[in-house]
Amino acid sequence: MTETVAVIPGDGIGQEVVPATTDVLDHLVDLEFVEAEAGDHVKEERGVALPEDTKQIVTDADATLFGAAGETAADVILPLRSLVGSFANVRPARAYPGTDALQPETDLVFIRENTEGVYSGIESEITDGVTTLTRVITEDASRKIAEFGFEYAADRGYNSISIAHKANVMRTTDGQFLEAAETVADEKGAAYDTVLMDALAMHLIMHPEEFGVVICPNLAGDVLSDLAAGLVGGLGLLPSANLGDDNALFEPVHGSAPDIAGENIANPAATMFSAAMMLDHLDYPEKADQLRTAVESTLASGPVTPDLGGDATTSEFTSAVIEEL
Ligand code: NAI
Ligand code: MG
Repeated sequence: MTETVAVIPGDGIGQEVVPATTDVLDHLVDLEFVEAEAGDHVKEERGVALPEDTKQIVTDADATLFGAAGETAADVILPLRSLVGSFANVRPARAYPGTDALQPETDLVFIRENTEGVYSGIESEITDGVTTLTRVITEDASRKIAEFGFEYAADRGYNSISIAHKANVMRTTDGQFLEAAETVADEKGAAYDTVLMDALAMHLIMHPEEFGVVICPNLAGDVLSDLAAGLVGGLGLLPSANLGDDNALFEPVHGSAPDIAGENIANPAATMFSAAMMLDHLDYPEKADQLRTAVESTLASGPVTPDLGGDATTSEFTSAVIEEL
């Protein structure tokens, strides 16, 4: 059976890195791509950033490959994540040979709770100049992300598992998160550490090699994984997966990068690594490894794009990856 993949380039460099990635996939595996639209340009033309036909294509597909949206990002990516039922946002941050990473020993995977916390969207202005936000943490979602995180670590051979939290201050909500995660760890007989998320930010900068899988509430995972992006050479290298029980969406961590859009110099590696995660999800583990290896070898030997200090175009990098394959 040929799997169907919804392909949404979106705005800005999404229009460059996503086609580059589907070009590479065409040389590797037989998938049916169904193009769909979303983002700022769609809002301008059609009045909505995420049209119904796009939602339908995503719902019907076996997986979605998304580039980036611009100013409408929240109107596009949050509904898309919930459309695929994503409870886990998986963000690996690895230093690749030859990429001049700040911390070359970094090999981290953030497992970020993707449905609640401060991103539940419950905000209000209670009176002029006074605003509030409700932080939702449930036992179910906390257990689910912890179960996923411990299984992910076991499957991939990570020995270090950390649970990030701030339960000393957010006693009820992060108390719930921590208790659920520790219960799961005990049930699985798995070793783990608990780390206060602010202290973790410092430890990650100084000693990233001490960490492996980091299980985080939503906002902490968002912020700390961007921090880790800085350790390994920037946003052009960071992939992510939004995993649900029956569907999933894969996207680079970066946005639409309007400062370089249209110049054919965006680094497509993050999207290609995201596509490799998609191949794992679609049960093509060998093809996924082939793709990762080809992108890694190209990063090591060049030519690389300007964000990594090279002068290659997006197209030249892409051709080099295809050559490696
Ligand atoms: P950004 O990730 O688009 O760009 C940050 C910096 O990193 C820029 O200097 C950019 O040139 C560089 N960069 C990012 N990806 C790169 C790549 N693949 N190759 C080379 N350089 C790269 O974040 P920024 O500037 O904060 O946001 C720009 C727009 O993107 C905003 O409208 C924002 O709302 C949107 N955004 C969308 C996201 C999504 O769709 N998931 C996520 C983050 C931002
Ligand atoms: Mg972010």
